[in-house]
Amino acid sequence: MNSSSAIEPKLEIDPKQKYVSRQPDQNGFINYSDEEHSTWSTLYNRQTEIIKDRACDEFIAGIDLLKMSADKIPQLPDINRKLKQLTGWQVENVPALIGFERFFELLASKRFPAATFIRTKADIDYIQEPDIFHELFGHCPLLTNQAYADFSQHYGEIGLKADKADRPMLARLYWYTIEFGLIQSQQGMKVYGGGILSSKQETCYSLESDIPNRQPLQVIEAFRTHYRIDELQKNYFVINQLSDLQQLVKLDLITLIKEAKILGMKPSAYVPKEDKAC
Ligand SMILES: [Fe+2]
Repeated sequence: MNSSSAIEPKLEIDPKQKYVSRQPDQNGFINYSDEEHSTWSTLYNRQTEIIKDRACDEFIAGIDLLKMSADKIPQLPDINRKLKQLTGWQVENVPALIGFERFFELLASKRFPAATFIRTKADIDYIQEPDIFHELFGHCPLLTNQAYADFSQHYGEIGLKADKADRPMLARLYWYTIEFGLIQSQQGMKVYGGGILSSKQETCYSLESDIPNRQPLQVIEAFRTHYRIDELQKNYFVINQLSDLQQLVKLDLITLIKEAKILGMKPSAYVPKEDKAC
């Protein structure tokens, strides 16, 4: 079992899921318990140390800009006020998992979907569903960055236009960039993917382990590469700068998906286990 706190962001809702999003009051605020704030604090303080020298500079800059509390779970209206000024983005409360259509709609309109529950202390190191720590700590710092924000919006627009049968290919591209992307900086390899940066174990593993394969991002290869939501990744794709993401959505992704389909999926690096490979 890994400790990635990320999950494929666009699965249909699983009726067996353990966690459900918390509902805000009329002002958009959620009344979290002391225990829930304490869980945030544990995660925030631990992860802030781990990402030093491992997160890309833009992520660290985003952490500084957002000034999230280390002691209390941030409230969406407070995060949204800051994001609005910086890139025009908003974070929107959604159920733990949402369908492709809703996911693409939200991104296309500069709204980042976030489930507002937080994991229990028993799940402190690993949770399959994306919780508020994953969404706010893992993703929001880079929503202050225009290249990352633009990519997310255009990705949503492309997703809405794509044939439903092509959406799993697009999901893989999202997985290997926004969730599990690495970046080659002048100071060496760094992380920008939110699935990695909200995970204690995967932040170190993704950069320092000799197990996974790391290769320059090629869109067709990302489309053709299986991933799993419940294990440390076997494959990472590396960009050179965040502006590479802006160039990526200028490509004719629909045509590239057709090419990827002709080539077929690459052999999976994972041992088959239930139906978790995507
Ligand atoms: Fe995520």
